[in-house]
Amino acid sequence: MNKLKSKDLLGIKNLSLEEINLIFETADKFKEVLSRPIKKVPSLRHLTIANVFFENSTRTKLSFELAQKRLSADVVNFSSSVSSVKKGESLLDTINNILVMKVDMIVMRHPNPGAPHFISKNIDASVINAGDGTHEHPTQALLDSYTIREKTGKVKGKRIAIIGDITHSRVALSNIYSLQKLGAEVMLCGPSTLIPKHISNLNVKVENDIKKALEWCDVANVLRIQLERQKNKFFPSLREYSLYYGINKRLLDSINRNITIMHPGPINRGVEISSDVADSKNSIILDQVENGVAIRMAVMYLLSLNKNR
Ligand code: CP
Repeated sequence: MNKLKSKDLLGIKNLSLEEINLIFETADKFKEVLSRPIKKVPSLRHLTIANVFFENSTRTKLSFELAQKRLSADVVNFSSSVSSVKKGESLLDTINNILVMKVDMIVMRHPNPGAPHFISKNIDASVINAGDGTHEHPTQALLDSYTIREKTGKVKGKRIAIIGDITHSRVALSNIYSLQKLGAEVMLCGPSTLIPKHISNLNVKVENDIKKALEWCDVANVLRIQLERQKNKFFPSLREYSLYYGINKRLLDSINRNITIMHPGPINRGVEISSDVADSKNSIILDQVENGVAIRMAVMYLLSLNKNR
């Protein structure tokens, strides 16, 4: 296999193991490019890519833009907060107006689950989901699994605990699909109010006791409490959440295991993770961010091969 099946990357659910491995092998090659003094190849010099963001982002937006520039694509950036969306323009009209200016690929973040899927059905250009509400964030999951593989040797057989606000996370669902396809075991841990009721149907373990989760896992992927998506109160206070579910050095020292620490960012230091853990030698948080560029180069390069197929 040397191509992806779909014109789009909307989620991990429909990616095969072979496609994930193809993305990883391609990312390995781009990682080598990124280690050179001139970190640029001409692979996408014929393409123009629009980053269309209807929600805030630091890592994903910059990572996609850097990946596009490293591949020599032309890049335009759209931010809904300073756009004509504020004047009432629809999502599809916005995208069609961008495409008619000879744009070939759309990278889209949107607060509504399914928004990139809707756009994908209505346009011929490739669409990459850069996070759709609480649904999926496929390139985050790919860079997470890639970083586990790079830093711990392999993903197969590893025990990964995803800890925190599972209900409002798009990282959790994409990670579950990616890690399971690669042969890892997945546990979700957090207060029961922040774990969806039927999630165990996805063949994951569910644990409310943080110490038991840490005693079980090889890797802890710590998630932020997404207060901006919470309409109700799911726990009494951030202080209480931190007391019962915050990962700190004292808690890790009480467990007889060497646990690799991950976090997709942004970090809320002192809430879900303490600085002495986030900045410890077991933390691979910045490696995740670094690998995001190579993974996104790989995804956009592979999708470009499907243009005009
Ligand atoms: N991990 C992630 O999606 O971060 P941003 O929201 O900053 O893009």
